[in-house]
Formats: sequence, C-alpha cells, structure tokens
Amino acid sequence: MSRAASTNEPTTDTPPEDIAKSSKAVGEPLVTVENLTKRFPIKKGIIFQREVAAVHAVEDVSFAIYPGETLGLVGESGCGKSTTARVLLKLIEPTSGKITFEGEDITGLNKRQMRPMRRQAQMMFQDPYASLNPRQTIGQIIGAPFRIHKLSGDTKQKVQELMERVGLNPEHYNRYAHEFSGGQRQRIGVARALALRPKLIVCDEPVSALDVSIQAQVLNLFEDLQEEFGLTYLFISHDLGVVRHISDRIAVMYLGHIVEVATADELYNNPKHPYTAALLSAVPKGKVGTQVTTRTVLTGDVPSPVNPPSGCPFHPRCPKARQVAGGDGVPENCRVELPPLGEVVENHHAACWYPLEESEELAKAAHA
Ligand SMILES: Nc1ncnc2c1ncn2[C@@H]1O[C@H](COP(=O)(O)OP(=O)(O)OP(=O)(O)O)[C@@H](O)[C@H]1O
Ligand code: SF4
Ligand SMILES: [Mg+2]
Repeated sequence: MSRAASTNEPTTDTPPEDIAKSSKAVGEPLVTVENLTKRFPIKKGIIFQREVAAVHAVEDVSFAIYPGETLGLVGESGCGKSTTARVLLKLIEPTSGKITFEGEDITGLNKRQMRPMRRQAQMMFQDPYASLNPRQTIGQIIGAPFRIHKLSGDTKQKVQELMERVGLNPEHYNRYAHEFSGGQRQRIGVARALALRPKLIVCDEPVSALDVSIQAQVLNLFEDLQEEFGLTYLFISHDLGVVRHISDRIAVMYLGHIVEVATADELYNNPKHPYTAALLSAVPKGKVGTQVTTRTVLTGDVPSPVNPPSGCPFHPRCPKARQVAGGDGVPENCRVELPPLGEVVENHHAACWYPLEESEELAKAAHA
C-alpha cells in the first residue's frame, strides 16, 4: 500500500463515490472529482518566460457529492479549498484529473459546451458586496441570470418571489446593495444563485464575514432551501464549527491534499487524522460560528505549497508522528511516503500511517 510522494500514482484506491459514504449517498453522485490536481506555474523571464516552479494548490483530490447532500470542505487558509471549487466548476482548468457532473465527464468541455451545465451549478462567495454592482438595483442583480440566459416570463414577479423566499422584502426591489446589511446582502447572493434553479451550489465561505448571530440565520436559510429545492451543496469554510452545523459529510484539506473524510458526527466525535484532531481541539463543542485558531495546538507554520514536504505533508507539524518516534523525531514512512486516503473504520477515510485510536489523548483533546 505504501507509495512514495514523488510518484504520480493515485493516493487512494477507493473510487470517489465510495469514499466515506453517508446515509444520503443514494443513487448516482451529482458530481465527482477524481485524482484532481491543480498546479499554478511560477514563471521567470521577461520575454522568454520559463516555468521555474509551481504552486501545488490541489494534489490528487477525489470525492463525490450525492444529490441533496452537503459536503463540507474545511482547512486552513491557502490549503486549496477555493481552487478545488473553481476547478470543479471549470472556472479554471485542472492540471490533471477528471470531473463528472450527473455522470457526464465534463473535464474536456469547452466554454460553449459548458453552458448548459453553468445553469445547474452556481457559486456563492464570502463577500457578496464585492460581487454586487453598486449601480444596479437588487431587482436588476437578482434578475440578471434570467436576462443572461434569455429566459422569458415576468422577471420582476420571479425576482420578487425569490426575494420573499430568501427573507427579503419584495418591496425593496428598487433599492441598491449599500442599503442592505451584511446578512441581507448574503440573502441577495442566495436569491441570485437560486434564480436558475440550480442543482449544485458551491458556497465559498458564505458566512465568514457575518456576525455569529447572523451566521446561524443564514445557515438555517441554506438548510431550508436545500429541503425545499432539493439542493446539493459544496460548503467551504475554515471554520469547523460552521461546517459541522450544515454538512452531512466533511472533507478536511491540508496543503492541497484531502486528509480525512467522514460524516460530520463521526469526524467530530472520532477524528482519525492528527490534523483534524488539532483543528477540532480549537472548536468549542456544539458552538456555531467559532473561528478556528490552531496556534494553541499546532506548532510551526504551514509549509510552502511551492516546495511541499516529502512524504506526509503534515509531518513537520504532526504531534502524533513525534509521539510514535519519541522526542522530536518523525517515523521514516511519515517523512518519505505519502499515506493513501484509506478506509480506517467503516465509511471513514483518513490519510495517515498512524491513525488515532478513539482512546488517544490527541483525539480526546477534541472534546475539551
Ligand atoms: N491564480 C493563482 N496563481 C497562483 N497561485 C494561486 C492562484 N490561486 C491560488 N493560488 C495559490 O494556491 C494555494 C491555494 O489557494 P486557495 O485560494 O485555493 O486556498 P483556500 O484554501 O481557499 O484559502 P483561503 O481560506 O484563504 O480562502 C495558495 O497557496 C494560493 O496562494
Ligand atoms: S502519516 Fe505520520 S506525519 Fe502524517 S499525519 Fe499520520 S502520523 Fe502524522
Ligand atoms: Mg478560499
């Protein structure tokens, strides 16, 4: 099972649709990514540019999302969450790997061929204000998808119905974005994302800029809309408290790799990867909207994705590796070989040579 990090062999033998299935994994997945890698070349030279290095943003990532399911994607800043989302939606091209949507391989589709799929999959961002045109009214903003896709019918009526559904006053149709609060702006973003009745919404840190009390309201709205419209979410956050609240399953990313996937409860109660345990130890149990600060648990900075560590990417910071080796050492396989994302217990995958036992102190720290 052991593989050297330097080889290009896949880091999991499990097909994406079988990685840590939840009870919602019924039928065929809506979307899958398989062995997805995205590297951003770093070039030098003014006229004859040559590639001197690359940012390893996403490394051999595989997962599936089933219809009606919410997959949470969590990890520290720069670990590759947004890049994964952008590649999945083909807003940028993967370096390698495969993406399917409703069973169709969309990896090689060009812009024109992607158009039908664009309606089915929408993206929402952390700061809706940045993507809201200040010179347009809310009616124009939410109605834009109808015009772009040249849909017939009474746009104003449709927009006002959407406004009502997301908790905005339809009489505010002619107001401008600056007249709304942060939470209301995020509702505008939700209404716009919903306009074309998509199947998938990729939410990239959608509540991170909001006050904790408002976060809970917006998360509840996401859940209500999921039930009403049968939506599927990829929900990205650096905040495990927020992700747990809304996710059926959670995938944890570190330095471009997915290091653990399990149902939300299983991951929270029984983390197997030392990195997940460290993230969890900073989240007060059951609290929504708590910022993850790993500094108290993890020592050292996240290594550069331009020159990632050999072997397990977490090895320079891993408390478990030091425990196994004794003192400040690290076992040789942690240093040399990339651990595969394997099934550690049923429906629970982790990429670690020494996954945590339930009784271990590292895991217990997560319950403190
Ligand atoms: N267009 C780009 N060109 C070069 N490097 C990039 C580009 N986009 C992202 N990166 C790099 O890829 C890595 C992953 O970035 P990404 O934005 O996906 O992380 P993230 O997990 O979403 O972080 P955050 O929580 O801060 O949003 C980072 O090192 C980032 O600097
Ligand atoms: S493989 Fe080794 S270094 Fe990596 S997380 Fe597991 S114990 Fe730590
Ligand atoms: Mg991001």
